[in-house]
Amino acid sequence: MRLLILFILATSATAQKISYENYKVYQVVPSNEKHVEVLKMFEDNPNIDFWTGLYRSIQPVNVMVPPKLQSKFEAILNQHKIYYKMVLENVEKMINEERQSQSEAASKASGEISFDKYYRYSEVQDYLIRLSREKPDLVKLENYGLSYENRTLTLIRVSSGGNDKKPVIFVDGGIHAREWIAPAQVLYIINQLLESSESQNMIQNIDWVIIPVLNPDGYEYTHTTDRFWRKTRSKGAVCDGVDPNRNFDYHWMGPGSSNDECSNTYAGPTPFSEPETLALSKVIKRFAHRTKMYLSFHSAAKSYLYPWGYTSELPPNADELHSLAVESERAISAVNGTRYKIGSSFNILSPASGSSRDWAYGAAAINLSYTMELPPGGENRFDLPPEEILGVVTEMFEGVKVFHEYVKEEYSKI
Ligand SMILES: *[C@@H]1O[C@H](CO)[C@@H](O)[C@H](O)[C@H]1NC(C)=O
Ligand SMILES: *[C@@H]1O[C@H](CO)[C@@H](O)[C@H](O)[C@H]1NC(C)=O
Ligand SMILES: *[C@@H]1O[C@H](CO)[C@@H](O)[C@H](O)[C@H]1NC(C)=O
Ligand SMILES: [Zn+2]
Repeated sequence: MRLLILFILATSATAQKISYENYKVYQVVPSNEKHVEVLKMFEDNPNIDFWTGLYRSIQPVNVMVPPKLQSKFEAILNQHKIYYKMVLENVEKMINEERQSQSEAASKASGEISFDKYYRYSEVQDYLIRLSREKPDLVKLENYGLSYENRTLTLIRVSSGGNDKKPVIFVDGGIHAREWIAPAQVLYIINQLLESSESQNMIQNIDWVIIPVLNPDGYEYTHTTDRFWRKTRSKGAVCDGVDPNRNFDYHWMGPGSSNDECSNTYAGPTPFSEPETLALSKVIKRFAHRTKMYLSFHSAAKSYLYPWGYTSELPPNADELHSLAVESERAISAVNGTRYKIGSSFNILSPASGSSRDWAYGAAAINLSYTMELPPGGENRFDLPPEEILGVVTEMFEGVKVFHEYVKEEYSKI
């Protein structure tokens, strides 16, 4: 009987929206290595959420803390004289404001999108389907697998011909469910390649393989139930979900991965345990012989990250990766002064093993592999407010143009 009641409580709880009432966000500013060590202690607590991951180096970081842990959290920071300020008093209020602006965005006909709101997975699919119907000579959709909850995983191929001989740029986004700006960015790239006359040259010499939402179960869950869900939705014994960007079979479960099911960086029971990562790895492998560049969009560390994530050592072509990123970033900053950091994932952000980027570089031999970390929503929001999406994605597209130009110059012999 007791078990039955527990079961009912548990299932009804998951059907409801998770509340972040009175969760606070602190901006914490470590000023020496010892401070970083203290913060690392908190990072192991699954109830304390480092929004951008804890930086290895001394940099401010935003941390979301539930009401019952706030006084202890503040006490420990005070005790170690670590500077912090509260930047958000009630996370639930921010979620409600975001929901409000989402609902205020002008509604579009089915298959149409704009860049003043974050779209649901079915709307993303409808957009891709419309493009494939309107431009069958340029666009092919492919369902490359099923998610854990049986959603269709879809990629879009953009090619102006050439019998599958042209170099490929592979782009994806949305591997982390809650990073909504990433699918928005990827949709903008698709939109520019196919619906802007100015970017027609970008599909002349290069074929594109693009996946806007890698983790649709998680993405939908952030819209319906838990705004801060990051992982997949596979069932666990105690906690659900695996961090798909720790689940790739390249230095799996190395530094920056957790073997605790409840952690946001849980690498999974085995490499490629998740249908989403296994399916992605097969697609990357299939195109690898002509893929020259792999770009995986995330937020919110505002950085270009190249391999490795599992070690502080640099990969063989680090100079090339770095100087190309510098050139691309310069094009972004020329728009409006926005600056992104550039470096290896391990060295400028934090250790992260088993990422899609390290795997694309190390296992699929794609030498130009980057994790593109888009900006957060100012000091105190997670994602940008919907009305700021367009500014970010248009800037970033200037950086993508530089990438395209480089791949074209280096690798297309047409
Ligand atoms: C997905 O579909 C398969 C085959 O129909 C089914 O066995 C499985 O239970 C479904 N998974 C979920 C999570 O609904
Ligand atoms: C990638 O880099 C390695 C080592 O730097 C080199 O041997 C290989 O030819 C490169 N691959 C491509 C496709 O350029
Ligand atoms: C450029 O920056 C200004 C001031 O920060 C901002 O108001 C404007 O929206 C930005 N424009 C774009 C395109 O991001
Ligand atoms: Zn991410």
